[in-house]
Amino acid sequence: MTTDVLRPHAEQDHAAELAALAAADDRPRPPAWKLSPWAVVTYLLGGTLPDGTEITPKYVGRRRLIEVAVATLATDRALLLLGVPGTAKTWVSEHLAAAISGDSTLLVQGTAGTAEEAIRYGWNYARLIAEGPSERALVESPVLRAMRDGKLVRLEELTRIPADVQDSLITLLSEKTLPVPELNTEVQARPGFNLIATANNRDRGVNELSSALRRRFNTVVLPLPDTAEAELEIVSRRVEQLGASLRLPSEVADLAEIRRVVTVFRELRAGRTEDGRTAVKTPSGTLSTAEAISVLTSGLALAAHFGDGVLRAADVAAGIHGAVVKDPVADRAIWVEYLETVVRERDGWDDFYRAGQEILG
Ligand SMILES: Nc1ncnc2c1ncn2[C@@H]1O[C@H](COP(=O)(O)OP(=O)(O)O)[C@@H](O)[C@H]1O
Ligand SMILES: [Mg+2]
Repeated sequence: MTTDVLRPHAEQDHAAELAALAAADDRPRPPAWKLSPWAVVTYLLGGTLPDGTEITPKYVGRRRLIEVAVATLATDRALLLLGVPGTAKTWVSEHLAAAISGDSTLLVQGTAGTAEEAIRYGWNYARLIAEGPSERALVESPVLRAMRDGKLVRLEELTRIPADVQDSLITLLSEKTLPVPELNTEVQARPGFNLIATANNRDRGVNELSSALRRRFNTVVLPLPDTAEAELEIVSRRVEQLGASLRLPSEVADLAEIRRVVTVFRELRAGRTEDGRTAVKTPSGTLSTAEAISVLTSGLALAAHFGDGVLRAADVAAGIHGAVVKDPVADRAIWVEYLETVVRERDGWDDFYRAGQEILG
């Protein structure tokens, strides 16, 4: 589908794949699901259909995690995706909603300021005053719409929401109904309704989930990529897609530059070099896979507009510097040490060493 928007929704972007899956899918579908659980997992992890259609992988990681996530959504429990930033929680939840409900747009962004209206309903005050409480004056939350339409709703960053607002989910998730006392009525969820929440496990303790709420969820923890190869695959695939959708007139000539960014991130995260021989210090920022992707995308933009159109060491060095040095004193020292002890000594990394030096000034 060629909708000219900056970022099409997953169900628009992958409409052809979803249609091919639906056509090939002869397995039982839970009520109101667009696809069977098997087809949903294939959509997420990729595969080849009997008619030869290639389904691109969206998530790279363990099949079992995705199977558990999908199976959960076919039960009366909601799904909680937990993990450090950049482990594809939001990404997976969008694709799950696209594949299961054909609609990934029902979304509540959790923040410390999220109010109950965002989860239940609010009022159009002009109407409320003019006409009194009526269906027409009711402003439905995405959760209410999902209940009414039998779809999935996504709740981002659940643990940032104040505890009393979180608790308004308990009855809704256990009774599958939302009372509207002002209209002396209720909205009962239709088949197909469920909720996918995401939470950052670094936020834990900020607003610890109440045990009553936790019991309504099955938790799936999304890990950082196990191996350098897996991370390289994720990053290169996304960088290529993003570069194309931003129509950047530049190219990644080979995987070397991407491999370098992934290596630097993994080494700093792990606190040692990949050969295990040198200990390095870990900076304060999250050097996530998502961050690596954005360093490379910015690099492509630099290469396109101020370079020769090919991604080079100098194009990624600035981005890496920015990702690593969040604290101008401690992180800078860590980065200088890494440049001097690791980058400088490494064969074939002289261009990157010089670029890094230049940015330090
Ligand atoms: N295992 C993975 N498989 C595929 N993409 C991944 C993976 N890990 C990270 N990504 C990429 O990282 C980006 C950011 O992920 P996001 O869902 O925003 O992270 P989170 O919500 O966990 O902070 C996405 O563009 C996604 O493509
Ligand atoms: Mg997220």
